[in-house]
Amino acid sequence: MHKLVVVTGATKGIGRAVAERFASAKFDVVACARNYNDLQLFKDEIEKKYGVSVFAKSTDTSDKKQVEEFSKFALALNRPIDVLVNNAGYFTPGATMEEPDGALESMIEGNVYSAYYMTRGLIESMEKNKSGHIFNMCSIASIKAYPNGGSYAISKFALLGFSKVLREELKEFNIRVTAVMPGATKTQSWDGVDLPDTRFIKPEDVAEVIFNAHSISDRSVVEEVIIRPQLGDI
Ligand SMILES: NC(=O)c1ccc[n+]([C@@H]2O[C@H](COP(=O)([O-])OP(=O)(O)OC[C@H]3O[C@@H](n4cnc5c(N)ncnc54)[C@H](OP(=O)(O)O)[C@@H]3O)[C@@H](O)[C@H]2O)c1
Repeated sequence: MHKLVVVTGATKGIGRAVAERFASAKFDVVACARNYNDLQLFKDEIEKKYGVSVFAKSTDTSDKKQVEEFSKFALALNRPIDVLVNNAGYFTPGATMEEPDGALESMIEGNVYSAYYMTRGLIESMEKNKSGHIFNMCSIASIKAYPNGGSYAISKFALLGFSKVLREELKEFNIRVTAVMPGATKTQSWDGVDLPDTRFIKPEDVAEVIFNAHSISDRSVVEEVIIRPQLGDI
């Protein structure tokens, strides 16, 4: 039977590249995003292109109830979850003292609670099998403050903190935890920004690094990955 990877925010950008990279290695994919039609298209395309199964459920990972339902959907497959990629995230620029009221709350919901509750929902499968690998999509904004980073940076620092705590807690279960910290990566998030593609990381490069980090033996763990555009941060 194929191995199984769970990817949140799988229809576009980095999540899409990650799902495709694992599918190309014959992993079946459990995927979510909010847009139902995009998800159906994603399922059809990946299944046809890679000959794997895609189990897709429309889910807003900012919403705890929906995350719980998605976890149940994945567990109901009754198969070991080999890899979980907590990728779905939310970005709006803004300085902490100027951003709208509620910005911090929605950023924490979208970028921290999403990964926290998804991991809690799925962990029983990994603990039972004493095997698994969790990737949290952090950011350069998890380690470096910059003007207008605002609540996004606060939430991504918190996601890195969550990753470090998980790493310590899950060692004994033989579950690996990796925090991925990409710099500017060319996805729709950057639409309208007038810079050449060469100033950005390719989503496929982030996906390749994740796949390689997973592919080493489970005696070792890549705890943190920092990946930047070759010309540096923008
Ligand atoms: N791009 C960068 O420069 C960069 C750098 C560092 C870190 N990151 C992080 O990488 C992750 C992916 O970013 P990206 O640039 O690839 O984004 P993207 O191109 O905008 O794609 C986001 C994907 O996630 C889904 N999604 C968004 N919000 C969601 C939600 N609340 N619930 C479920 N699915 C959701 C989207 O589909 P729907 O809209 O249909 O939900 C889409 O499939 C984020 O966590 C981001 O913070 C990005």
